Amino acid sequence: MRDKKLMNLFIINGRVIDPARKVDQRINCVIRNGVVAEWTTARQAPAGATVLDARGAVVTPGWIDIHTHLRDPGEEYKEDIASGAAAAAAGGFTSIVCMANTKPVNDCAAVTRYIRERATHAAVRVYPVGALSRGLEGQALADIGDLKAEGVVAISDDGRNVDNALLMRRALEYARDFDLPILVHAEESCLCAGGVAHEGEVAARLGLRGRPAAAEEIIIRRDAALARLTGGRVHFQHLSSAAGLAAIVAAKEERVPITAEATPHHLFLTDAVLEDFDPVFRVNPPLRTDSDRAVLRRALRDGTIDCIATDHAPHDITVKGDVPIEEAAPGTVGLETALPVCLRLVEERVVSLARLVELFTVGPARILALPAGRLGIGDAADLTIFDPQRPTTIHAAEFRSKSRNSVFEGWKLKGKVLYTIVQGNIVYS
Ligand code: DOR
Ligand code: ZN
Repeated sequence: MRDKKLMNLFIINGRVIDPARKVDQRINCVIRNGVVAEWTTARQAPAGATVLDARGAVVTPGWIDIHTHLRDPGEEYKEDIASGAAAAAAGGFTSIVCMANTKPVNDCAAVTRYIRERATHAAVRVYPVGALSRGLEGQALADIGDLKAEGVVAISDDGRNVDNALLMRRALEYARDFDLPILVHAEESCLCAGGVAHEGEVAARLGLRGRPAAAEEIIIRRDAALARLTGGRVHFQHLSSAAGLAAIVAAKEERVPITAEATPHHLFLTDAVLEDFDPVFRVNPPLRTDSDRAVLRRALRDGTIDCIATDHAPHDITVKGDVPIEEAAPGTVGLETALPVCLRLVEERVVSLARLVELFTVGPARILALPAGRLGIGDAADLTIFDPQRPTTIHAAEFRSKSRNSVFEGWKLKGKVLYTIVQGNIVYS
């Protein structure tokens, strides 16, 4: 993240929601030298401060996305670190965590260094994840110690399942010793081979090869058992099925050190959208059924799901446009749609606004021990200010992201980011 000239800001009239400190009240914020300096009911701006009027708006800690794919190095035409960070800022995110499935893979210190160097010029904070296996090939461990020394915040082969249980065990032992969580993309490979959709009635009728929910459940059960065995920390990515969630519940009841996330697309869509064979809806894990979606939503409320993450997966038209769904690349962009899409969870009374903010701030911050997600005095002044009522229509053509593959194209929603502030600098308005 760029070090700019530090501004002094005075944010007035906003409804401040900071779940980490159990705050939900109308109060004004003084930002000085990049940190939260004061909370006050006074209306007099400090000398020299720029006043931001947040009337009608909600002021929260900066939103955090712990599951972003930037395609840099290697496929910068889909997304590079600068464009991904700009998309994040436009979406209200102040910190993003980028996956290791770049080209080359982020499996060694040189690649991590490259990302961190580029990230110093980006609009928001960018935290790299190191690969679990060399080249994501699932054979030999990456050098987890070197990656940690270079600044990765977690280890993951995301995009692929780790098929070898012994490799996962060893990775957990190293990661535990280096105090890093492992992020798990849980989809047993043999069960999913060639599959493009949830294995069920819709896929059968459309003649699409399936990926069964059991593929997710099996790996969650295995890796929860390995977390119990090793004491390593496991975070399960993009939960998609009721069966997978049942496995999460069982492990949490046993107090195994695990956490879980859900994506906006799994919380809103089902495999019913595949009727037109539109490749934009191909995602891994696949969109599932109404009852899976209902169970995921309930899990947001009861704490089984610890955070929402976008799985922002930019792709260009050569792999997402006019191609058969069987040949399409999986994934949807998500950074610039998460906020208005997920505000609908509040409107539909799935969660309270405070819980939603928690799922995007202190929830993800805790999972990766990021220095973010709360606005106490002296904390970094990373804030998201949004109008929860302003009508918005999703137009991918207007994205800052270089890619347009959004499953939410054309959705009419409410919620607009007004300001994104990173270390006291306005990085989007
Ligand atoms: O849909 C997905 N796209 N799921 C993943 O796990 C990987 C991601 C990508 O890199 O495109
Ligand atoms: Zn994944």
